[in-house]
Amino acid sequence: MIVAIANQKGGVGKTTTAVNLAAALAMRGRKTLLIDLDPQANSSISFLDHGTIDRSMYDAIADPACDLAQIIKPATSLQNLFVAPARIALAKLEARLVGELDAHFRLKDKLDKLAGEYAHVVIDCPPALGLLTVNALVAATHLLIPIQSSYFALEGTDDLLETIEKVRQRPNPGLRILGVVITMHDKRTALARDIREQIQKVFGGKVFRTVISKSVRLEESPAYKESIFTFAPESTGATDYYSLCEEVIERAEARTA
Ligand SMILES: Nc1ncnc2c1ncn2[C@@H]1O[C@H](COP(=O)(O)OP(=O)(O)O)[C@@H](O)[C@H]1O
Ligand SMILES: [Mg+2]
Repeated sequence: MIVAIANQKGGVGKTTTAVNLAAALAMRGRKTLLIDLDPQANSSISFLDHGTIDRSMYDAIADPACDLAQIIKPATSLQNLFVAPARIALAKLEARLVGELDAHFRLKDKLDKLAGEYAHVVIDCPPALGLLTVNALVAATHLLIPIQSSYFALEGTDDLLETIEKVRQRPNPGLRILGVVITMHDKRTALARDIREQIQKVFGGKVFRTVISKSVRLEESPAYKESIFTFAPESTGATDYYSLCEEVIERAEARTA
């Protein structure tokens, strides 16, 4: 399974979801690769020391001679988890690839070369619908959309769905929307309940049963270079992401789209 975590809005929980889903998958004992496509490099820094990151996804995508295998590093605190890190240089990638005929296929081609080395690949996308996110959607088998439980939750989803449809029409007809996960939910408020209903009206059965609650522990764990499962195993954040991972696997293994 190659799952892209995408939503062009910033701060909706993409990185938190990518980091903890990748950790949960790795803890099931299968080799898992976390690819960081956000120039901000937040998910890279959750598992690697900043000083050890030299070459990044920028090189793997921009340089035909650089394979993914050359930039992948083992996560510092977790077995079976490997990271293809980002650097701020990724912000220049789009300009670099202007006019390249295979610009949308760069990541897919590099991933194909890894030929099944990883059981699972999780791709953390930047907060934009540009070339990097399109590279992720073209390379992915599945898509997971985090939507923040907030008043403007659904704003912008039309553009996202349009991009997904374009990718499905041509470069990647097999792309499946695995589901929508509601993040930063505060179940005590009536507003949050309303928002959940609205999201359910739009996405129906695509919405995961698991809802990620607001949790300070989830905000803290990256600073300690840990996933929520080792940082605060008893927290609601750990329970929520564990159950999201179970649902992700269940859906990915189900035959129908
Ligand atoms: N469930 C949550 N509860 C509390 N804070 C969260 C939760 N999920 C994410 N955050 C925090 O919200 C901010 C944005 O989340 P992040 O995962 O970085 O979003 P994105 O990658 O979409 O920009 C971060 O500071 C993160 O720690
Ligand atoms: Mg992010």
